[in-house]
Amino acid sequence: MAAHIDPFHPTGLPGAPSFDLTGRSAVVTGGCGPIGRAICHGLAHFGASVMVVDHPSQDVKRVVEELEAAGHRSVGHTLDLLDTAATARVIDVALDAFGSLEILVNNAGINLKSDLAASTIEAWNEMWTVNVTSAFVLARAAADAQGSRGGSLSIVNTSSIAGSSALGRGNIGFSATKAALNELTRELAVEWGPRGIRVNAIQPCQVEVPGFARMAESDDGRETIARMVGGIPLGRFAKPEEMVGAVIFLASDASSMVTGTVIPIDGGNLALNAGGTVPR
Ligand SMILES: NC(=O)c1ccc[n+]([C@@H]2O[C@H](COP(=O)([O-])OP(=O)(O)OC[C@H]3O[C@@H](n4cnc5c(N)ncnc54)[C@H](O)[C@@H]3O)[C@@H](O)[C@H]2O)c1
Repeated sequence: MAAHIDPFHPTGLPGAPSFDLTGRSAVVTGGCGPIGRAICHGLAHFGASVMVVDHPSQDVKRVVEELEAAGHRSVGHTLDLLDTAATARVIDVALDAFGSLEILVNNAGINLKSDLAASTIEAWNEMWTVNVTSAFVLARAAADAQGSRGGSLSIVNTSSIAGSSALGRGNIGFSATKAALNELTRELAVEWGPRGIRVNAIQPCQVEVPGFARMAESDDGRETIARMVGGIPLGRFAKPEEMVGAVIFLASDASSMVTGTVIPIDGGNLALNAGGTVPR
């Protein structure tokens, strides 16, 4: 007689999801920015070794030292993501440092906002290279490495609510690139699903970062911020550390059946119809 198989718990007892990243290695681009730094700390806290990647103008050493001081294994790497050839080599640097790579967080991003009439093709191309091309080049290099070595690979892209809904105010290039990053996420998830490589994205709303603090210094800026907050049902901007939970989830085995998703971390911003109102 065939053994009874419970389709919900084929291995027997239901297991608790594992967020443990012990023994895994991660690359995080834009690791010195507010969101990237929080992600580096979060991944390390859950056990991963972290390569902090950022532009040479950024203090990568500081973030690496913070992680080491907290007892974690970390290395730093600087490059300009506009240099696509240098971008393609980042994964090899991580493999030399750690011996394997299980997590890639494409978090670096730029927003060269400007009036449509004043916008330049140079700025447009720069946004596409940093926000989209670098993510593709790194993902492909990481997938190639996974293909030659085996092992697991989870890729997490930092998108934006702008990738799903227009922001106005000269954010055209930023929104277009984040929409492309969402679709890159889905296409790669489909391409690499059969190899067990998972690709997902997070979509932050406005996050408390120095740029918004500067904006709050003028009357106009404060009014714009109030309108932005008015579109967020939870009634406030996000904090950088509020991005971390979803990244740990997506990087870990807790999300082993999750790929091709773009998860808003936006206080309900994308759930709100533009014609809707938030009760206050
Ligand atoms: N802050 C927000 O409100 C917000 C909202 C939605 C999405 N995001 C996205 O979150 C991610 C991180 O944002 P953040 O607020 O921490 O931004 P940030 O500007 O402080 O950080 C971006 C990081 O990318 C790095 N970077 C930019 N250009 C680079 C280049 N050419 N080469 C190498 N590194 C480069 C920067 O040095 C920086 O460390 C970005 O992708 C951003 O688009 C941010």
